[in-house]
Amino acid sequence: MCSDVLAAVAWPYANGPRHIGHVSGFGVPSDVFARYMRMAGHNVLMVSGSDEHGTAIQVKADSEGLTARECADKYHRVIASDLQGLGLSYDLYTRTTTPNHYLVVQEMFTALYDNGYIVAQTQMGAISPSTGRTLPDRFIEGTCPICGYDSARGDQCDNCGNQLDPVDLINPVSRINGETPEFIETEHFFLDLPKVAEQLTTWLDSREDWRPNVLKFSHNLLEKIRPRAITRDLDWGIPVPVEGAEGKVLYVWFDAPIGYISNTKELCDSNPERFGSWQKWWQDPETRLVHFIGKDNIVFHCLIFPTMLKAHGGYILPDNVPANEFLNLEDNKISTSKNWAVWLHEYLRDFEGKQDVLRYVLTANAPETKDNNFTWKDFQERNNSELVAVYGNFVNRALQLTKKYWDGVVPACGELHDVDRQAIQEFKDVKEKLEAYLEAFKFREAQKEAMNLARIGNKYITECEPWKVWKTDPKRVETILNLSLQLVANLSIAFEPFLPFSSKKLRSMINMTEYDWSELG
Ligand code: 2FM
Ligand code: ZN
Repeated sequence: MCSDVLAAVAWPYANGPRHIGHVSGFGVPSDVFARYMRMAGHNVLMVSGSDEHGTAIQVKADSEGLTARECADKYHRVIASDLQGLGLSYDLYTRTTTPNHYLVVQEMFTALYDNGYIVAQTQMGAISPSTGRTLPDRFIEGTCPICGYDSARGDQCDNCGNQLDPVDLINPVSRINGETPEFIETEHFFLDLPKVAEQLTTWLDSREDWRPNVLKFSHNLLEKIRPRAITRDLDWGIPVPVEGAEGKVLYVWFDAPIGYISNTKELCDSNPERFGSWQKWWQDPETRLVHFIGKDNIVFHCLIFPTMLKAHGGYILPDNVPANEFLNLEDNKISTSKNWAVWLHEYLRDFEGKQDVLRYVLTANAPETKDNNFTWKDFQERNNSELVAVYGNFVNRALQLTKKYWDGVVPACGELHDVDRQAIQEFKDVKEKLEAYLEAFKFREAQKEAMNLARIGNKYITECEPWKVWKTDPKRVETILNLSLQLVANLSIAFEPFLPFSSKKLRSMINMTEYDWSELG
């Protein structure tokens, strides 16, 4: 049955180019899913954009001698072009600095405030003793009071995932200049997370098909949930729409997820006939909302944003959040500060036209259940022994043989032999598994099954030996090649979510126009 599917993909910070860790976490899997869902006949929106507020942008801007806006402009362009270069099929990739986004965010804040889910509270805020300026939470580091991790940030510990306040840190220091911050009393607006905690627990309990690691992490966090500050004393961000709150802006993690809604609004307003109303995507319980994120974003997508949606009322909650773990590079953690990364723009420049190889390797090594590793040796091996030796070889054999014996024209299918029937049956079994894996967000396994289709094809040609049969029974070769070419056509459909560039090439080689999922088989 056709349904509305909203693939809401994490918004990258516009503070630098993206690397393979990012596209492995949220990029490639979201695109595999969206492409499959579209081909399966669903009504799909894939939305995202650049996350342009917050200290991450400000600090990068300072380091490059730019204003925050100039920095966001610069990296939004780079990121949008790289993600598009990898073939990610967003319906709209926008940004959080549009007037539309400001409006939608401020409306959300006001509704939550009016509904009693946002309260003013005094907290201890950090300031730099040398400059007297406010020190953003993320730029204070120290030892986590909960797990003892020595590089916990002022807002969150990346080791145990707990939400922190800078004042909780043991031995806090400023990441900007290493000095010990001073703490003074300051008033901020807090989102009353505990008020919705019970409803969230019930909701999470009902999500039986979610990845166990996502559920476990969310439940653990929920047990210790407390009100969380959603405003900051900064001059870069969306102003807090409350009288007397001048100088305060909304915390970046309050504004960014609302981007999923403002993006949908922007898209629907621009073409209501094609996309329908934004309410259909956000307020109809039949819509399937799926977030594609890395594990460091779980707290925001499984607890904070759902709290906001509940507190507002009328919105759907995510149907699934298949968060990925992390990808390492050559057994070491990918690190922007240490420049230990494969940068997307460099890959696209150095491996021109080879987007599908990276997509393939990132799916084959997707960190779906645990951290995983990218190595260049594995990249080379998968390219040579899978993409070239299995997929490429089968396509090449089928097309070359057709060219040789039938001058490139698809021959007719005659009477089927056992070997033909067996290949068709094997194909059907694989197709079923492929679909089941795609539906369950098991994209590594799904891609393996797609490759098995090419293996079936290779085995079929090898067993049938058309080059021998040709001498005695050219009619039989017609059937062998007809079936082989049908397999090639099927391959282009099965691989479309994973290798869209190659599938397109394949379709043009065999003059194929229809490639809906229903054509598979
Ligand atoms: O972790 C990050 O890179 C964030 N910019 C992700 C935001 S996702 C969404 F909420 F916008
Ligand atoms: Zn910790």
